[in-house]
Amino acid sequence: MSEFPLVSAYKDVDAFRARLAELGLDCDRRIEDAGGPLGQPVVHRGRTIGNRWAAHPMEGWDGTPGGQPTELTLRRWRNFGRSGAKLIWGGEAYAVTEDGRANPHQLCLNPNSREDLTALLAAVRAGHREAGLTTDDLYCGLQLTHSGRWARPRGAPAPRIPQHHPLLDRRSGVLDTTSPLTDGELEGIARAFVDAALLAREVGFDFVDIKCCHGYLLHELLAARQRPGPYGGDLAGRTALFRRIVSGIRASVPDFDLGVRLSLYDCVPHAAQGGASHDAGGEARRGSSELTGEHLPYEYGFGINPHFPAEPDLQEPFQFLELLRENDISLVNITLGSPYYCPHLQRPASWPPSDGYAPPEDPLASVAAHLRATRAAKAAFPDLLFVGTGYTYLQEYLPQVAQYEVRAGHTDFVGIGRLLLSYPELPQHTLAGRALENKRLCRTFSDCTSGPRSGEVSGCYPLDPHYRSMAAAAPLRAARSRSSPPNDSPHDK
Ligand SMILES: Cc1cc2nc3c(=O)[nH]c(=O)nc-3n(C[C@H](O)[C@H](O)[C@H](O)COP(=O)(O)O)c2cc1C
Ligand code: SF4
Repeated sequence: MSEFPLVSAYKDVDAFRARLAELGLDCDRRIEDAGGPLGQPVVHRGRTIGNRWAAHPMEGWDGTPGGQPTELTLRRWRNFGRSGAKLIWGGEAYAVTEDGRANPHQLCLNPNSREDLTALLAAVRAGHREAGLTTDDLYCGLQLTHSGRWARPRGAPAPRIPQHHPLLDRRSGVLDTTSPLTDGELEGIARAFVDAALLAREVGFDFVDIKCCHGYLLHELLAARQRPGPYGGDLAGRTALFRRIVSGIRASVPDFDLGVRLSLYDCVPHAAQGGASHDAGGEARRGSSELTGEHLPYEYGFGINPHFPAEPDLQEPFQFLELLRENDISLVNITLGSPYYCPHLQRPASWPPSDGYAPPEDPLASVAAHLRATRAAKAAFPDLLFVGTGYTYLQEYLPQVAQYEVRAGHTDFVGIGRLLLSYPELPQHTLAGRALENKRLCRTFSDCTSGPRSGEVSGCYPLDPHYRSMAAAAPLRAARSRSSPPNDSPHDK
C-alpha cells in the first residue's frame, strides 16, 4: 500500500508546485495551446515533427501465437495516432526472433511481417487522420527488441543471457548450468535486428529504435563486464554488438534514421520486504533493495556507482551518448531501470502491479529521477533530441510539468506511456486548448501490468470501456481494492 499522498490530494497547482519545489522541480501554472512550447515543431534530418508530444511504446500482450497483430493491437496503434502526438516512438516492442519474445503474445518477425508492419503503420496514420490531423509531420518508428534474460516465448522462462547475474538469475529462471549466449549466437541476433530494420524501412517506418533499456538483451550487454570475449568486458566490448547492428543497418540503408531507447541508468533489484509481495491481509509490502554487503562492489548495473549502487554514475552513459552522436543517431528516448526488478522507478505508481511491491519512495520522487536524468542528458548533449519518460504519474499536472520542461529546454519531447491507454487524446486536447477530462486520467492502478502477469491482455481495465467490460476486469479490481492507498482515488469506486 502506498503511504504517500495521491496526486489528486494536492488542492491546486500551487500546492503541487510546493511539493515539486522540494524535489527541485517546477511546473507552469497555465497551459498554452498549440501556440505554446508543446505545439512547436522540430526539424529533424530534413523532416518536420509537428509537436513535442511523443507516444511511448506500449505492448499489449495481445498478438497471435505466430507474432502477428490482432484487432486489439491495431486498436491500440490507432489510438497512438489519435493521441495527436507527432512522434510515435516505436509502437511497441517487436521481437526480432521468435525465441527473443518476452511472452507468447509479443509481436515478432514472422513470414507475414511485411503485411503486419504495413497494417500497424496504416493504423497509426488512420488514427491520426481520424483526429483531423495531417500525417505529413507525423514521425513513426518501430521498436526492435530481444528480451534476453526475460525471454518467455512460450510462457515458461527461456532466458537467453549474456552473462550470469547474482540476483537476477533466480528471478528469471536461469540455472547455474544455463550457458550464456555464444558470440556466434549474439551475431545471429544482430543479423535479425538488421533484417527487421530493413523490413521496417521498406514498409515506410521513419526510423527504428534499437532498444537498449529495461533489462532486455542490449541493455544487459551494456553492463556485461564479466563476459569474456568481444562482446563484454570494457565499454568498447559491451557496445560492440550494438555497433555491429548499427553498421549492419547502415551498410544496406545508409540514410535510414535510427533511435535508441536507453535506460540511462539502472537500479539495483528491489523486492517486497519479507519475500511475499502481499501480507496476509492482502496489503502490498513495501519494496527495498535486495543488495547486501556481499554484493559490493556491484558491477552489474549500467550507469550506477558500483560502490554506492543507489547512486547514478553517468560517466559511461555519457560515453554511450557520445557513441550515438558519432554514429549519427540523434533520437534518444531516456528511461530508467526495468519493470522486472525496479518497477517503482521504471513506471512510478500508487498501486503496485500484482507481483510488485508498495513504492519505497514517494512516486513523485521517482518521477523527479526521470526528469533529472533527461535534463542531465540534454544539458550534456544539446544537439541530440531527447524524449523524456515518467510523466503519467503527474496526472492533473502532467501538461503543466511537460510544458515547463520543454519551455526550459530540459527535454525536446514529452513521452507518455500508460496515459495513452486510459486517455489517448490528452495531447490533442491540450494543444486544442480544451479542459482535461480528469475522469480519464491514468491513476496508476497498474492493472495494465497486473493483467498480463495473470495471462490476460494488457489494457486500461478501470478506465477504458473496451477493457472494462472484459471478464478480467473484475478480479483485477478486487485484487487491487485489497491493497488501496490511504486516500482512495476519486473515480474508481
Ligand atoms: C502495459 C505496458 C506496456 C509497455 N510496453 C513497453 C514496450 O513495448 N516497450 C517499452 O520500451 N516500454 C514499454 N512500457 C514502458 C512504457 O513505455 C513507459 O516507459 C512506462 O509506462 C513509464 O511511462 P509512463 O509513466 O508515461 O507510463 C510499457 C509499460 C506498460 C505499463
Ligand atoms: S490500468 Fe489504466 S489507470 Fe491503471 S495504470 Fe494502466 S493505464 Fe493507468
